[in-house]
Amino acid sequence: MAKLWAGRTSGETSAAADDFNSSIRFDSRMYRQDITGSMAHAAMLGARSIITPAEAEALIAGLQGILDELDSGALTFDPACEDIHMFVEQVLTERLGDVGKKLHTARSRNDQVALDTRMYLREEADAIGTQIRELAAVLTRQAEKNIDAVMPGYTHLQRAQPILLSHHLLAYVMMLLRDLDRLADCRKRMNVSPIGACALAGTSYDTDREMEARRLGFDGIALNSIDAVSDRDFCVELMGCLSLLMMHLSRLAEELVLWSSWEFRFITLSDAFTTGSSIMPQKKNPDMAELVRGKTGRVYGDLIGLLTTLKGLPLAYNKDMQEDKEAVFDACDTAKACLGICIPMLEGMTVQADNMLQAARTGFINATDLADYLVGKGLPFRTAYKISGELVAECIRRSCVLETLPLEVYRAHSELIGEDVYPAIELKACVEKRSSAGGTCRASVLSQIAYVKEKLSL
Ligand code: ARG
Repeated sequence: MAKLWAGRTSGETSAAADDFNSSIRFDSRMYRQDITGSMAHAAMLGARSIITPAEAEALIAGLQGILDELDSGALTFDPACEDIHMFVEQVLTERLGDVGKKLHTARSRNDQVALDTRMYLREEADAIGTQIRELAAVLTRQAEKNIDAVMPGYTHLQRAQPILLSHHLLAYVMMLLRDLDRLADCRKRMNVSPIGACALAGTSYDTDREMEARRLGFDGIALNSIDAVSDRDFCVELMGCLSLLMMHLSRLAEELVLWSSWEFRFITLSDAFTTGSSIMPQKKNPDMAELVRGKTGRVYGDLIGLLTTLKGLPLAYNKDMQEDKEAVFDACDTAKACLGICIPMLEGMTVQADNMLQAARTGFINATDLADYLVGKGLPFRTAYKISGELVAECIRRSCVLETLPLEVYRAHSELIGEDVYPAIELKACVEKRSSAGGTCRASVLSQIAYVKEKLSL
């Protein structure tokens, strides 16, 4: 079939070229935005007397009919159309005849696609934001529920100092709050209307870009028509936000994998979010957490792919830019799928507080507290640190821990040590002493929870 753009050429392209050129299989998901944008355009053309009010009404009614039929499934996409924009215009023209052909006055697919993509992605950003809030809420609830569970905090994956699990979980909540902020900030820049920029240079028609922008919920209009049709920063920026989000989810997922292992046994994941092995009957595999970790690479790939596509492009529109959509849609789909799994998986996670405490008891993670105790008795920190290290070595030789090391052994290393060393190195006490702002003590955790609840209106 001859193309809508037949004229300069016959419009007869090869089937292979049509297939290669076509984007309808992935941009049809923007049909609602495309049609809503076209309705605003028709209304503006009518309001500015570029078409008659009756024509504008006919276009809007025709577009509404197409929208309803696509929603209900009565109308399906024609894979032979190059893209969603061509499809809608073609159906409209089939139905309305010459009036349908007036819709594309003072418009180009270049500003149209930029408009649709911005409208589609701002909704995606909002949906992802809602999921991030939910995940932050679930983690906060787990922190509240397990507020007193003591675990070893790690550096270099070596047991380091005693912390509250609730404090550890809230670290992820803080990351998610930043992800939310970033998304909101990105959405602000995204919510600027490109429509009316036309092909690249603006138009000679007396259009009202502000009117279209307002009607479509934008905060303003792009001030340079060339920038309006060339800019895909908003796609890259969104994928940047999602990459950071995924990095956070991936680190969390990695901890779930570790913690649910038989070596750690800090948590149990619910059966609903684990799988078995086809050969090893004892297995309970954390596949979902592993997939969240694995899919992170995919989102980074989407980001780097589009950055690379854009880097050498001259202004203004180039067909290369059609590659933006699969990347950014995949990044959104992936992030939503991962959040959709993380929310119930974290909700159903059971904490094995006894095992955590047991691990905390056996790693000499109160050695810093022993040094601090000696500082309290008047020793300089470096000297205290050395004595504490020697006492840990003594414990390893005797196969005991600092809590069970006899007082006379302590005193052989330092006369300053008395009976009061034992309560000073008790794990709960060690946690409670870390009362500096943002530290791991219970009061700090409670104030973090209050902060999160206030921020998320929980
Ligand atoms: N399908 C195209 C895209 O996604 C729409 C814009 C086409 N513009 C053009 N001049 N060929 O980028």
